[in-house]
Amino acid sequence: MTLDPTVPAAVPTTVPTTAADGTPEHPAHPFDVERVLARLTLEEKASLLSGVDFWHTQPVERDGETLVPSVMVTDGPHGLRKQDENADHLGLGNSVPATCFPTAAALGSSWDADLLHRVGEALGRETRANDVAVLLGPGVNIKRSPLCGRNFEYFSEDPVVAGELATALVEGIQSLGVGTSLKHFAANNQEADRMRVSADVDERTLREIYLPAFERVVTRAQPWTVMCAYNKVNDVYASQHDWLLTTVLRDEWGFEGLVVSDWGAVRDRVAGVAAGLDLEMPSSGGRTDAEVVAAVRDGELDEALVDAAARRVLHLVARSLPAAEAPGSFDVDAHHALAREAAAAGTVLLKNAPVDGAPLLPLAPGALAGVAVVGELARTPRYQGAGSSQVNPTRLDDALTALRAAAGADLPFAAGYTLAEGPADDRSPDALVAEAVEAARGARTVLVFLGLPAAYESEGYDRDHLDLPADQVALLRAVAAANPRVVVALAGGSAISVAPWQDVAPALLTGWLGGQAGGSAVADVLTGAVAPSGRLTETLPLRLEDTPAFGNFPGELGHVRYGEGVLVGYRWYDARQVDVAYPFGHGLSYTTFAYDDAAAEVTGSGADAQVRVAVRVTNTGPVAGSEVVQVYVGDPQAQVHRPERELKAFAKVHLEPGESRVVTFGLDARDLSYWHPVLRRWVLEGGEFRVAVGASSRDLRAELVVDVVGEDVTLPLHELSTLGEALEHPVAGPVVRGALDGTPVDPGLLAMATDMPLAVIADFGLAGFDRGTLAQLVAAANA
Ligand code: BGC
Repeated sequence: MTLDPTVPAAVPTTVPTTAADGTPEHPAHPFDVERVLARLTLEEKASLLSGVDFWHTQPVERDGETLVPSVMVTDGPHGLRKQDENADHLGLGNSVPATCFPTAAALGSSWDADLLHRVGEALGRETRANDVAVLLGPGVNIKRSPLCGRNFEYFSEDPVVAGELATALVEGIQSLGVGTSLKHFAANNQEADRMRVSADVDERTLREIYLPAFERVVTRAQPWTVMCAYNKVNDVYASQHDWLLTTVLRDEWGFEGLVVSDWGAVRDRVAGVAAGLDLEMPSSGGRTDAEVVAAVRDGELDEALVDAAARRVLHLVARSLPAAEAPGSFDVDAHHALAREAAAAGTVLLKNAPVDGAPLLPLAPGALAGVAVVGELARTPRYQGAGSSQVNPTRLDDALTALRAAAGADLPFAAGYTLAEGPADDRSPDALVAEAVEAARGARTVLVFLGLPAAYESEGYDRDHLDLPADQVALLRAVAAANPRVVVALAGGSAISVAPWQDVAPALLTGWLGGQAGGSAVADVLTGAVAPSGRLTETLPLRLEDTPAFGNFPGELGHVRYGEGVLVGYRWYDARQVDVAYPFGHGLSYTTFAYDDAAAEVTGSGADAQVRVAVRVTNTGPVAGSEVVQVYVGDPQAQVHRPERELKAFAKVHLEPGESRVVTFGLDARDLSYWHPVLRRWVLEGGEFRVAVGASSRDLRAELVVDVVGEDVTLPLHELSTLGEALEHPVAGPVVRGALDGTPVDPGLLAMATDMPLAVIADFGLAGFDRGTLAQLVAAANA
C-alpha cells in the first residue's frame, strides 16, 4: 500500500533556490539567498524571524510576487505529527496518518546505528511525502533522572550512545532532502517547571555529560536546525543564551544551520536575536517582529544580526525547495515492517532464568500452544508517549493478536487489570485477577504484560515514583502463585522498578514504548522469531533513592542543582558502588558470546594519541544472535576525579552459531580527555588509562592498562596558590623546596602549611620568603 498525501505543497514551486554553499541544488530553481536578502526591507527581514502560525515560517510577498515562500516544520521525533489545519497545538488526534516508529527509548536500546539510519530514511521519506521541510527531532537530552516524564523521547543516560544513534538518525532523515531539529538545547532534563527552571550545572558537567551528544550530531551530521530548550541554563534562558547558541554551537562546533526556539520558549526576542536564536516559533502575531525592528531603529540591536538570522531562514527555505518539488510517496507496509524490526531490535531481555532446568524463553512453536496471555497491555498496547510527539499511526499491532497468529491458535487471555485507555470492564479487580489466575493454572507458561499506564508519563510533567501500579503487581503475584512459569513483558518509556516483584518472574523483558509495531515485535522476541539483541541505555536502579539526582530533582524555587555533577547514570552507581537491578549496557540473547584476545595499542601522543582496541567475539551458543560490544575507559591518575569508567565506543555484531569476529575500535585524544574546569579546555592528561571491553558496564570481559603520553597539567601559579600546589609546580617547586630547606620549620607546622596560600606563608614568614620574592616567583613560574 502506498500513501500519497494529497495535502497541497506549502512551497510554491516557481521559486528559485541555491544551496547554502552557493551551488545550485536544483538548476531550474536558483534561489539566490543573498540576492533575496538584499531586496528585503528591515521589516521584512524581521518578519522572517518568527513563524506565521504554529507550523510555518513567514512568507514575504510584495506586489503579488512571492519573494520568500513559507515552509512547514512539524513534530517529531519518531514519526510525523502533521496536524490538520484546524487542530490546536497539542490537538493530538488530528494529525495525518504516519508510521509511529519506536520511541527513542526503544530505538536507542537497539544500539544499532545502521538500523537508525534506515529508520531515519523512512522518517525522511514520510516527511518529504507530506511536504514538510523539517521534522522536529531527534531529542538528545540525557536521562538525568528516571523520573523525567519525557525520557521516552530521549536515547540514554550516556552521551556517546545518544550522540552516535542520533547522528545516524539525522543522517538518514536528511539524506531524503528534508531537515531535522536537534532538541532541546540544552540541559532540558525534566518536565517540571520546564518553561522557567534554571538548570544550575557546572561547565565540566555540561561539557562532559549534557553537551557532547549535541556536539557529536552537530559536528558529524550538521542537522538543518537545532531547537533551543525552554529552561534556563545557569540563570539565562536557553533562547537567549549567547554562550550556548553562538560561542559553543557555532564558534566551537561549527554549526551551519538555523536555531529555532522551542514552541513558546522566547522571553526576550531582541536578546534572542543577539544571542543567535534565528527563528521564533510559533507566531508571535507580529509583536516580536516589531520589537526587533524597534531595537534596530533605536540602535540597541545591530542590523547585521538581523541579517544573519534572516539569511539562515532563507537558507532553510532554499535547501527545502528541491524536496518540495518532488515530494514522492512512501510504502506504508514497508515502513510498518521496519518499525517492527526496529522495535524487536530495541527489546531488552533482562532475565531468562531456568525453570525445571530450562529457560522459559524463547517459546518454541510447540510450546506456544500451551501459553496463557495475561494483562490488558497485551490487548491495548502502550506504544508511544503523550505530548507533542504523539503520532496518529497508520496501523497498530497488539501482542495478543500477534501471539495468537504465531501460535495459530486462540490462546486464552485474561485482562487481569483495567487501563483508562483500554476497554471498559465492570467486573471488580478481584474478579479480573481470579480470571487470570484461572487461565494461568491451565497453562504451561503464562505471559504477563505489565507496564506504565499512559497517565504515568508524558511530556509536560514528571513521574512521582518508579513503581508499577499496585493492581498490576498484585495480579502478577497471584498469577505466579498459581503457576511459577511466568514471563513478564514490560511496557514503559523509562526505568521501572522491578526489584519489588521480579523474584516471581523467572523471565523478564522490556519492549519500552515500541511504536505501532511494538506488539508484534515483542511477540517476535518471545517466540524466538527474532533473537533479542537490545541492551539497556539506562540503568534500572533498585530504588528511586539510589538514583543520582535524588534530592536534587526536580529542584525548588526555580532552580534545579545538578549536584551529582558528571556522575550521571552508571557513572554514579559505579562511583558509589551501589547495587542496581540491571546495569547500563545489560541485555541477554538466546545465545551466548565469548570474548578473547583483547588488545589495546597506543600510537601517537597528546592531541594525536590514538588507542586501537581489538577483541575477538564468538557466538558460543546454539542460535544466531547479535552482541553489543562495549568499550569503557577509566583514568584513575587524573588531577580531577573522573568516573570509574565511561563508555567511549560500541559496536553491534551479528554472529551465526560458532562464528567469530575480531571487532576493532579507535579511540582518539578526545575520548581520553576531560574538561579542565580551571583551564577551560579539554585536557588529555598523560598517564595510565584503563580500557575495558565488555557486554555491559558491569560485565567486563577484559581490562587492559595503557600508558598514554599527554599533557603534564600545570596550573598557573598565583599568590593564593597553596604551598602544596607550589611544591608540585615544575618551576616554582624546586625554588620553594630550596627556601624551605634553608629555613628550619617544624614538621607539624609544615603539614598544616601545605594547604595555606603562599601569600599567607610569606606574611607569616614561614618559609623564608616575603611578598616581594613571592611576586618574582609567580612571574617566573608563569613566564
Ligand atoms: C516541545 C517540542 C516540540 C514543540 C512543537 C514543544 O512543546 O517541547 O519538542 O517540537 O512543542 O510541538
